[in-house]
Parts: sequence; C-alpha cells; structure tokens
Amino acid sequence: MGQGREILGSEGRLGYAPRDAFAEERGKPVAERFRLIVNGTESELEASPDTPLLYALRNDLRLIGTRFGCGSGQCGACFVLIDGDPAPACDTPLWAVAGKRITTVEGLSKGRELHPLQHAFLAEQAAQCGYCTSGILISAAALLAKNPMPTEREVREALDRNLCRCGSHNRVVRAVLRAAQE
Ligand code: FES
Ligand code: FES
Repeated sequence: MGQGREILGSEGRLGYAPRDAFAEERGKPVAERFRLIVNGTESELEASPDTPLLYALRNDLRLIGTRFGCGSGQCGACFVLIDGDPAPACDTPLWAVAGKRITTVEGLSKGRELHPLQHAFLAEQAAQCGYCTSGILISAAALLAKNPMPTEREVREALDRNLCRCGSHNRVVRAVLRAAQE
C-alpha cells in the first residue's frame, strides 16, 4: 500500500465516514483503506479520505482518551503527536496522516508505567474536570522530548494552544516543570 493509503473506489465502504460534498461525484472514490501507525501498532481502516483523524481514533480504534472540544483546531483538546509534533486530530484528515506515526495519550505510558508527566499531573492535581488534560499532556510530552529542561516561559509558550476552561493553567505549568525535574 503506497504511502499508507489505497483507493477502494465507489464500491468501498463509507460506513461511519461522513459524506462530503464531493462524495457523490461520478468516478470519485468514496472510501480508501488507510494504514496508520498508532502508539507503535499498525492499524488499517476504511474511510473517506476527508474523515478527521479524531473520528478514526475514537470511533474505529476506540482510543477515546483524545477529546472532541471545539472541532475546529482552536482548543487543543484533541491534540495527538504526528511524527512527534502536536497537532489537532479534529482538523487533520486521514489522507494527511497515511503511513505516519501517531501517538495518543494512551501511548504516553509504557504498559502500566505512567509517563513522568502523568505522575507529575497527579502529584500537582493539575486536572480538574480533565477534559483538556490529554491534549495538554501531548503538547507537554512534545516539549520535553525536544527540551528536557524548559523554563516556565517555555512551558507556557508550548501550551499556548491548549485551553483549559477550569483554569488549571498554573497547576499544569507546575506539573510540567516538576516532570522535567524527575
Ligand atoms: S477539538 Fe480539536 S482543537 Fe479543539
Ligand atoms: S481541567 Fe477542565 S478544562 Fe482543563
């Protein structure tokens, strides 16, 4: 399968994939088979190329730790790592991630061993309702992978795209700095 995607043609299954304005066009394929590498495991699924990655993760792969917030790339609740960089899964179509490495919040821990950020978030009680937390953990993990000892300012800048309605920002920043020390 080239580049992690294979066109199935009009006989392909739409199923759960949202129909887009062009799906009925004559000759246009309505479904493709995609190969994704999610949390180190290769997965295949069939969907319209424009299906948001978030839908595939939550509805097909049952990785429900990634949240749906604004649905338009504005809040950070749905962030995942795509080849190591944080990106909104709600605003990323499947065609853009075929064959790429995706890490969701479920992939941060190693088996039953939590990621240092997860330990630090527990220690600092950095989640209130927790809705934003998986996206924040993803952004913070990307930061620490590139910059293991960030300053407070660098942490705040790295989390600038992640909104928290509960106002837990200061505890979140403390937790990221704590994880960097451990
Ligand atoms: S749900 Fe994706 S950025 Fe808000
Ligand atoms: S902890 Fe509730 S939105 Fe962030």
